[in-house]
Amino acid sequence: MRSFDYDPKSVACIAELKRRYFPGDPEWIVEEGSVLDKGYLDALGTFDIVYSWGVLHHTGAMYRALENVVPLVKPEGMLYISIYNHQHIQTPVWTWVKRAYNHLPPGLRWALLFPSLVYSWGPRTIIDICRGKPFYTWRHYAEKSMRGMSAWHDVIDWVGGYPFETAKPEDIFRFFHDRRFSLEHLFTCGGGGGCNEFVFRKFPNISR
Ligand SMILES: C[S@@+](CC[C@H](N)C(=O)[O-])C[C@H]1O[C@@H](n2cnc3c(N)ncnc32)[C@H](O)[C@@H]1O
Repeated sequence: MRSFDYDPKSVACIAELKRRYFPGDPEWIVEEGSVLDKGYLDALGTFDIVYSWGVLHHTGAMYRALENVVPLVKPEGMLYISIYNHQHIQTPVWTWVKRAYNHLPPGLRWALLFPSLVYSWGPRTIIDICRGKPFYTWRHYAEKSMRGMSAWHDVIDWVGGYPFETAKPEDIFRFFHDRRFSLEHLFTCGGGGGCNEFVFRKFPNISR
């Protein structure tokens, strides 16, 4: 198994997971590498399963990254990706917010963080107060969320997550269909601002 990321801190995270759960496994290689680096990818070979959750839309060149993963999948192999959903109004607004946040000096970032926090958490907080459980969801977020982050870190992760690109489910379907993949499973975020998740299978090589 091969895990890579281009950020050394993310690589350190994977290395920590390996140390905790599969210490000394010689078949799990964890390293720095970019999905935009064709030379690096070409040397990796091909795989039965290629998995990339929430990565390709943060590269700054999403369609190049999507193209680059195609040769990594063996014929009849599986490709599991998750890609931010495109929303007609929200996507350009969030793209602006995220870009501006990353350009602001750290001391001024609260000016975007605070309104984003109110937008993201205001309605839920009012509901919790009405239920007589003020900030219940906020306080218990880390236990319940899939990714284990505190609510505060999740807000920072969302607002600061740039480069940021999005696609409609049908765009991703068409892209891989044209490259000889069939869609096996699709989990959408219901038109919201989260990720759509896709499981594709590559067609077998046809020999005549
Ligand atoms: C939102 S995080 C991934 C989330 C993670 N997979 C999870 O399940 O929680 C996005 C990751 O994409 C990585 N990334 C961005 N550009 C990349 C590139 N060109 N090559 C490889 N990794 C990249 C970032 O370093 C970051 O670790």
